[in-house]
Amino acid sequence: MLTLESNHLAQQFSTIQKQALRQKQKNMELRFKSEHQRLPFGFLELPYQKNLAPYARLASPIQKKMNTLLTLGIGGSSLGTKAALEALNLNPKTNFLFLESPHPSEIERTFRKIDFQKTTVNVVSKSGNTLETIALFFLVLEELQKKVPASRIQEHIIITTEKNENFLYTLAKQKKWRVLEIPKNVPGRYSVLSAVGLFALCVAGANIKSILAGAREMWEHPQAAFDFATWAYGAHRLLHRPIHVFFPYDPRLSFFADWFLQLWAESLGKSETSGPTPLKALGPQDQHSLCQLFLAGPRDKWFTLLSVRSHKPTFKISGSLGSFSYLKNKDTQTILQAELEATQTALQAFQNPTLHLSIHHLDEKSLGALFMFFELATVACGYFYDINPFDQPAVEHIKRHSRSLLTTAPIKSVKPHLDSSDTKPV
Ligand code: PA5
Repeated sequence: MLTLESNHLAQQFSTIQKQALRQKQKNMELRFKSEHQRLPFGFLELPYQKNLAPYARLASPIQKKMNTLLTLGIGGSSLGTKAALEALNLNPKTNFLFLESPHPSEIERTFRKIDFQKTTVNVVSKSGNTLETIALFFLVLEELQKKVPASRIQEHIIITTEKNENFLYTLAKQKKWRVLEIPKNVPGRYSVLSAVGLFALCVAGANIKSILAGAREMWEHPQAAFDFATWAYGAHRLLHRPIHVFFPYDPRLSFFADWFLQLWAESLGKSETSGPTPLKALGPQDQHSLCQLFLAGPRDKWFTLLSVRSHKPTFKISGSLGSFSYLKNKDTQTILQAELEATQTALQAFQNPTLHLSIHHLDEKSLGALFMFFELATVACGYFYDINPFDQPAVEHIKRHSRSLLTTAPIKSVKPHLDSSDTKPV
C-alpha cells in the first residue's frame, strides 16, 4: 500500500552509524510494544472500533435536511478532518465549513456563507474547555437562537468531546444535546480516526470502514513506519539536519501536511535537543519558491517527498505550439512525475538527504494507512528522543496564560514551567 524509498538518506550514514541506528531501533520497537501493552495507546485501538452506527445515524439527517456542517475546533480537533476531506475529494452535497480562529474576518466570511436554519454545528474539543472553540460556539449559538426556534436548537448541535466534567460535556448534558465521545486515552492530534474525523467523513459519504481497515493494516505491519522514524532521528541527530521538510507532490495532501506538522512539532518539541522542526512544502508550487533556499541555502534540512502514483481523471494536452511541442500528447500526471523526479534529483545533487514515500492511489484505505503511518512514526521518534510524545505542556501553558489575561486577575509572570503537571487542559 505504501512504498518507502530510503536509499538516498541511508547512504548518508557510515556503516557504524547505521549499526548504531539499527540497535536503537530494536530497543525502540521493544519499548513501543511494551508501553502499548502497559497503557494501551488509544490511537492504536481506534482502527478496531466496531460501533460505527452512531456516525451514520447522526449523519443521515444532515445529508437529508441540512446543507452545511460547520465544525468548530482547533489543532487536533480540526486539522485531521480537514486533511481527510481534502484528500478524498468526494464532492459531497453538504458544504463543510470550519471555524478555528475567533478572528472577526474569519467569522464574518463564514457567517456570510451560512443559512443557520440549514446548518448543523459540530463543536469538537477533547478537553471541552478550549478558549477559541468555546468563544466561537457562544457566537454561533447566539446566531442559531436568532434564527431557529428554541424547541429545534438541539437538532442543530452535536458536541464531540471527552465524557468527563469538562465545560462542553456538562453543558451538553444539561441541554440534552447529542454527544459523540473522544476516548480519554486518545490525545487531540492522534484523534482523527475517532469521532473527531469519522463523523464528518461519514456526512461526506466516505467509506469509513475502509479508512479504518487501512489504518489497521498499517499498524499490523508497522515496519516501514518504524524505519521512517529511525531515519528521521538519524537525520537530525547524526547528520545534524534539524529541519524536516515535508513535501507532498499532490494538492490533495496540502492539509495533510498541516496535520503532519502539528503532529510532529507538538509531539516531539519537548526539549532543547528533541525538537526536529517540521517545514511544509508543496510540489510543484514550491519549486518556484522554497526550492531556491533548499538547494542553495544552508544544509540544515532533510526531505520527505510524498507522492501518489496514479491519478484519475487524467488530462491530456492534445495541441501544443512551438518550443513547447514536447508537451503534445503528454498527460498532466507525466508532467508532474517529471517535475517530482527533477526536484528529487536536484535536492540530492545539492547534498540534501531525501526519502520518498509513495502510495499507488489516494482513497479511503490508503488515507487511513497514511494517518497511521505518521502517528506510529511520531510515537516511535518520541521514544528515540526519550520524551513523552503524547503531551503538550507548552501549548497548555499558552492556553492558561490566554485565559488569565481575559479574567479579572491576570497572572503577573509568564515564566514557563513546563513539566508534565501542565498537561491538564485549562
Ligand atoms: O493535540 C492536542 O492535544 C492539541 O493540539 C489540541 O488538539 C488543541 O489544543 C485543541 O484542544 P481541544 O481538542 O481540547 O479543544
